[in-house]
Amino acid sequence: MTEKIVLAYSGGLDTSVACKWLQETHGYEVHCLTVDLGNLPDIEGARLRGDEAGAVEVELADAKEDFLNYFVFPALQANALYQGEYPLATALGRPLIAKLLVDKARAVGATAVAHGCTGKGNDQVRLDIAISTLAPDLKIIGTARENEMSRDAALAYAAEHGITVRQTAEAPYSTDENLWGRSVECGELEDPWAEPPADVWEWTRNIEDTPADAVTLEVTFEQGVPVAIDDERLDPVTLVQRLSDLGGEHGVGRIDMVEDRVVGIKSREVYEAPAAVILIAAHKQLEQLTLSKAQHRMKARVADEYADLVYGGHWFSAHHRDLAAYVQSSQQDVNGTVRIQLHRGNLRTLGKQADHSLYSKELATYGDDDLFDQKAAQGFIKLHGLAVQVQAHRQLLQDKRDPLHLAAPPREDD
Ligand code: ARG
Repeated sequence: MTEKIVLAYSGGLDTSVACKWLQETHGYEVHCLTVDLGNLPDIEGARLRGDEAGAVEVELADAKEDFLNYFVFPALQANALYQGEYPLATALGRPLIAKLLVDKARAVGATAVAHGCTGKGNDQVRLDIAISTLAPDLKIIGTARENEMSRDAALAYAAEHGITVRQTAEAPYSTDENLWGRSVECGELEDPWAEPPADVWEWTRNIEDTPADAVTLEVTFEQGVPVAIDDERLDPVTLVQRLSDLGGEHGVGRIDMVEDRVVGIKSREVYEAPAAVILIAAHKQLEQLTLSKAQHRMKARVADEYADLVYGGHWFSAHHRDLAAYVQSSQQDVNGTVRIQLHRGNLRTLGKQADHSLYSKELATYGDDDLFDQKAAQGFIKLHGLAVQVQAHRQLLQDKRDPLHLAAPPREDD
């Protein structure tokens, strides 16, 4: 009996060729799965090319809402930014794609899954780890890793096998898009000294093309999850899409970084992630009102750890479960609204309020209604500095090298 394989299928040149190639070289019956995370694939074109490439089916899975609810919003609650900058759009999508590939493999009784990720990137790491964690019995074929076809070879292969490829100019970059952001790499970006060419930007305007007038908006969160813009409750997809459009219009959300890939390569990457940038900024502002100092400190550490594990493809891990439990628990009182202004590529927060804010005007004020006991400060400072002072007198001040310059400098006439 012919064995079945489920192919992660975008409908472009590479995965159409992969579809045919899996039949020809491995003898598989190919089931194509296209996962929509908000990247609006040309599904009619994809279906057509899938048919031409001999797929027994091309299934489109609309995973936009699940992507936001179960992958993006938990990462937002964590304020997850890889190496402090990248909101992880591509990385967050991979475990969901892996899960849907496995579900599909089970549904059709496939013995293998395939994807077209290259052998130098992070995406193969994420997909392979997730798939083999969820389904150790499934064979994984990385078509690009196995056949290393050049673009010309792929075009020739497509022509030879009657696969219609739109005659577009060669894409100058490798890109990946979903609701949380757009990732761009390769081509001219490979020189970190070179400014990103104008054509890398598709979602965000250049500063000179942004509106002269600022836009102000209010984002409301419940337990750290955004639920409304300007008091209008929105479903997750609409909310994120709206912020993405608005941010892009005002030139907000561009990220240009050199990052450390899992496979040990430093790589120059450019991202457009207006919604992510706005929402993480707003969420952090709200946490300033609602988290204690200790929670804040711990959460920042967790954020780094969380971003690292998402980036590295350890989504389906106990470490993730544990960190996510901490993050979830920390969000119980992160309820409130943040007022934000977007203007000429800048994002400013103008104000914030929370249902159970820890901010107390009576304690902070220098006005007449001050409730803070300033005399109590003296006793507090004595104890807060006590250990430092004991150690300074017994050790630091005895140290002839005086590395902290504690002793008065000798005077000229000494
Ligand atoms: N460097 C980013 C990441 O690892 C983006 C990867 C983009 N993927 C792509 N197929 N172009 O998450």
